[in-house]
Amino acid sequence: MEEKLNKILEDGKKEISNSKDEQALLKLKSIYIGKDSEITKIMKNMKELSIEEKKIVGSLTNKIKNELEKCIKAKIGELSSNVISKKTFDHTLPVTDSKGSLSPVTIVANEVADVLKKMGFIIVSGPEMEDEYRNFEALNVSKDHPARDMQDTYWTDEAKVLRTHTSPVQVRSMEKYGAPLRIAAPGRCFRNEDLDASHENTFFQVEGMVIDKEVSISNLIYVMKNILKEIYKSDVEVRLRPGFFPFVEPGFELDIKCLICNGNGCSRCKNSGWIELCPCGMIHPEVLRMSGIDNTVYSGFAFGIGLTRMAMMKYKINDIRMLNSGDIRSLKQFGIE
Ligand code: PHE
Repeated sequence: MEEKLNKILEDGKKEISNSKDEQALLKLKSIYIGKDSEITKIMKNMKELSIEEKKIVGSLTNKIKNELEKCIKAKIGELSSNVISKKTFDHTLPVTDSKGSLSPVTIVANEVADVLKKMGFIIVSGPEMEDEYRNFEALNVSKDHPARDMQDTYWTDEAKVLRTHTSPVQVRSMEKYGAPLRIAAPGRCFRNEDLDASHENTFFQVEGMVIDKEVSISNLIYVMKNILKEIYKSDVEVRLRPGFFPFVEPGFELDIKCLICNGNGCSRCKNSGWIELCPCGMIHPEVLRMSGIDNTVYSGFAFGIGLTRMAMMKYKINDIRMLNSGDIRSLKQFGIE
């Protein structure tokens, strides 16, 4: 009898300590010490035992019952404290009932990708830590090219760079797919900037590239205008100026009229009334050649839309630092939920 009782205690303890939730524990409680449990049955049949046996079995059953009860209580306490500590894990959050939302940049990136997909572009991506060749050389920016100064770069110990633009994805796509080609590559870029309302060391672009036979500047302008119309849901005023980038020829800067001040001049547009939004141009034949594309047959255009700027214009955000702050309250004030 004693052996049987000790076995019940041992099994019960094991099962209790392995149980995963309160419901399972309540079930064990009824199995081990409930009305129909083995222990209760033994207690009920005590009258058939001798006085000597009664003493031993009586005290043992009581001890076991109490011990199992104690174990169950302790386990319930342990499980519920786990739940509480999980729930309150991030006690620095300003609100507990908020659902959060996509960042304005992600929203705009998705919208641009949707427009481009409709125009037959495939969405591709490349690494944020890039090799020097694809970030610079393969884009016609040789080691001593003065254009490197425009992109103050983060270098890693392994002579890699945190990509300064999404343009290396042009190179990767040409290498991988050849021509004809129509790609869009949204992504994060990095430059060693001094931070202020319009400069961040981490920002987003979407690269676009089309390579085909007989591609023209008017194709480029059509694509750009189509994107802007879809994002801003109206015909925004644009202007095209010459712009220099070693990997395009001719190169342009496509500006939009500042949507924060309506072209009247504000701190965001440096009082010019215009925002540089989309550098672009016809792909330099040398860039095509370096990535193995026959530049006597194919030509193309490329653009690099500043997604961060685009989102700032769309949601009238006047300080870029808000975008990387991760503070959900900043989203709410722009009506993004
Ligand atoms: N990669 C360039 C930059 O970030 C922009 C660009 C992309 C210009 C494609 C022309 C064509 O400065």
